[in-house]
Amino acid sequence: MYLGIDLGTSGVKAMLIDDDQQVIGSGHGALTVERPYSGWSEQKPDDWIAATGKAIAALKANFPRELAAVKGIGLSGHMHGATLIDAGDKVLRPCILWNDTRAHREAAQLDADPRFRSLTGNIVFPGFTAPKLLWVRNNEPEIFAKIGKVLLPKDYLRLWLTGDYLSDMSDAAGTSWLDTGKRAWSADLLAATDLGENQMPGLVEGTQQAGKLRPALAAEWGMGDVVVAGGAGDNAASACGMGTVRQGSAFVSLGTSGVLFAANDAYLPKPESAVHAFCHALPATWHQMGVILSATDALNWLCGVTGKTAGELTGELGDDLKSPSGVTFLPYLSGERTPHNDAAIRGAFIGLGHDSNRAVLTQAVLEGVAFAIRDSLEALKAAGTTLSRVTAIGGGSRSRYWLSSIATALGIAVDIPADGDFGAAFGAARLGLIAATGADPHSVLTAPQTEAVVEPQAAHAEAYEAAYQRYRALYPAIRSL
Ligand code: XUL
Repeated sequence: MYLGIDLGTSGVKAMLIDDDQQVIGSGHGALTVERPYSGWSEQKPDDWIAATGKAIAALKANFPRELAAVKGIGLSGHMHGATLIDAGDKVLRPCILWNDTRAHREAAQLDADPRFRSLTGNIVFPGFTAPKLLWVRNNEPEIFAKIGKVLLPKDYLRLWLTGDYLSDMSDAAGTSWLDTGKRAWSADLLAATDLGENQMPGLVEGTQQAGKLRPALAAEWGMGDVVVAGGAGDNAASACGMGTVRQGSAFVSLGTSGVLFAANDAYLPKPESAVHAFCHALPATWHQMGVILSATDALNWLCGVTGKTAGELTGELGDDLKSPSGVTFLPYLSGERTPHNDAAIRGAFIGLGHDSNRAVLTQAVLEGVAFAIRDSLEALKAAGTTLSRVTAIGGGSRSRYWLSSIATALGIAVDIPADGDFGAAFGAARLGLIAATGADPHSVLTAPQTEAVVEPQAAHAEAYEAAYQRYRALYPAIRSL
């Protein structure tokens, strides 16, 4: 048995799989995000531990014998978060999350230093870890002075699970301190934020062993000797779940954020495209991705405004794709990464009329996210990767309408995997299996069967292209307001 723990933005999911990678069951623990000021987004690391405890307690209640047989644990988590602890492992402040944009000035300052793009292969985005540390240095110097270690969110869970300070390459690549080609911390980049390598965790590959479960926790959960794998940032972990590990394979993820992810067998940086070039969870493998900050988050925002659930809103559209209505939605509710790298931009509805009812707004929100993903497709193309099809994952992929809209906006087929859960928790469990057994990663990280293919709708192609061009033209217009 193997256990995958995914620390997601809205909750922790713990998933048990058996030796044949069949899912035995999963447990959940909910999380919330604190937004004390515009652009801020924080969580308390203690809440991660409580939510993980709850998720595992649920597994223990339902599958005690299977849980007792766990030999390996894999970790996944939302990326880029700055978890600051002192020399005694005490948390110094709430974690500043991936979609927090308060450090946009500091990000621009670091990004202007050419060493960052050339060593990390990425723009220094405000959501990445290094600019947040500069923000803390500038605004909370008493906290900065006490920093013993800077940990990524899943690696704080690891510290609790194992007592070790370790991270994996895929998550480390999102800090702006990793030499992504060499897969090693850059002492120069750390020094540019007044930090030293002694304040960073050690690095392993996602498939390698990175600690052992503490005996006290093992006893509490009824387990024996358990290996903990390096694990991965949530996108690389999802890729492990989906078998997106070889050149040419790709997925679109509709979670809180939206991600267009392509696996690469070489390091292909192209920072000016705003495409992220990160290490993958397997040795000698990298990936590129376009990231939009609000995918299901945009639909959830409309749910909050209308008092309806996401299922009710998308249900009102039916399954058959409609041509864009003329109402355009820009999903920049918390700024945007790919392709704009703009923390200050905010969302918009344009083209409203008396006839713009709730269904029209929902349609525009789904299209707006689809067009933002098309922007990422174009950015990936500029970064040397042309996709011919993608597989859909994440909560938003339950809406056939949305997938049809994405296929038509992208002009490529979207594959729906056979029933099952192949997300980050499953990918993490697979990494736990590899680390515990030494199995060949490629024989474990296979792709699921395709259950259905959503083709682009030729009848709407022209109208979608016109709507996408309208969408693109709006960003500079809104920005100049
Ligand atoms: C990736 C990113 C998000 C988070 C949250 O760069 O910021 O996808 O990992 O899921």
